[in-house]
Amino acid sequence: MNIPALRGSRIIGFGHHQPDRILTNDELSTMVDTNDEWITTRTGIKTRHIAGPDDSVTSMATEAARNALADAGVAPTDVDLVVVASTTHRDRSPYTAGRVAAALGMSNGPAPIDINTACSGFEYAMAMADQAIRTGAADTALVIGSETLSRIADWTDRSTCVLVGDGAGAAVLGVSDEPQISSVSWGSVPHLQDAVRVTHDPEVFQQEGRSIYRWAITEAEGHARAVVERAGLTLNDVGVFAFHQANLRIIEPLVTALGGEGKYVVRDVVESGNTSAASVPLGLSKAWHRGELPEGVPALLFGFGGGFAHAGQVVMTPTRRR
Ligand code: ACO
Repeated sequence: MNIPALRGSRIIGFGHHQPDRILTNDELSTMVDTNDEWITTRTGIKTRHIAGPDDSVTSMATEAARNALADAGVAPTDVDLVVVASTTHRDRSPYTAGRVAAALGMSNGPAPIDINTACSGFEYAMAMADQAIRTGAADTALVIGSETLSRIADWTDRSTCVLVGDGAGAAVLGVSDEPQISSVSWGSVPHLQDAVRVTHDPEVFQQEGRSIYRWAITEAEGHARAVVERAGLTLNDVGVFAFHQANLRIIEPLVTALGGEGKYVVRDVVESGNTSAASVPLGLSKAWHRGELPEGVPALLFGFGGGFAHAGQVVMTPTRRR
């Protein structure tokens, strides 16, 4: 057997992309019976980006990946694995990862994998890329989350359309002598399987908001603690909290329950709304490129939602190339 001993992966760059069009709560209140005060108090969301006719899961994933590769100083042809998490790609084949590889001119032919575990998709994609690098199946991987939730939203349903946004985030992973990404802690909640869904007919985003909220408030903390435990760390070691950006009313109590006061907390839901699989990498990349993300510290990633799947890992944030 030829499996490299003592080898891990690490994040070496971040990138993101969002459509130009920004939809505010005030503008939404001219479309459905809602208002800025209701949306802000219940969700924390102020704005979201909405895909235009030329934007797609593939185009946004490609731009986010291009930016991440530039950030890492890696040529597209050095990438040997592309993993894309999305719940809104329109075609079953060709799959998005292959289209991103083609759009970026990866003539070396990287392995392309699409993942659909909705809001926890990025953490599943990260786990897959990390384990491919650990076992020697890849040396450099792109891990991307990209979504056009606006295209499957019911814009007459005020209980769901106010939540969603579009965008993409990406991370580049390289080989590390010491593992800088922990083993994933993952699972699902079978009795909530249909609580967040995009079924075929009609193809529209639906959710049971109260059931999800109850699970997030009562169960998510234990799963997040399990992620840190699996990494062999304590919550004191964690410097960054990056949870699925569903709702500030879920993120804040979770951070408090985990003793996260004074730590860096990703709160991009305020600007971007809920972008499902894109939400964690989008939030991390925006913080990184704004120069806000602490360098070289353990960051707790935790996603949950559609399916009903959850997953998380601790990743070391990159340090800047100087
Ligand atoms: N504007 C004004 N009023 C509204 C709106 C709106 N946009 N949406 C719903 N309402 C009204 C309802 O009609 C209802 O009115 P009624 O009492 O007269 O019948 C009232 O507000 C309460 O409605 P609920 O649906 O019970 O609202 P709730 O307090 O549960 O808040 C929310 C809804 C914010 C979605 C909440 O359930 C929640 O935070 N859920 C967590 C799930 C989540 O974040 N999902 C995101 C996608 S899934 C994921 O990413 C994991």
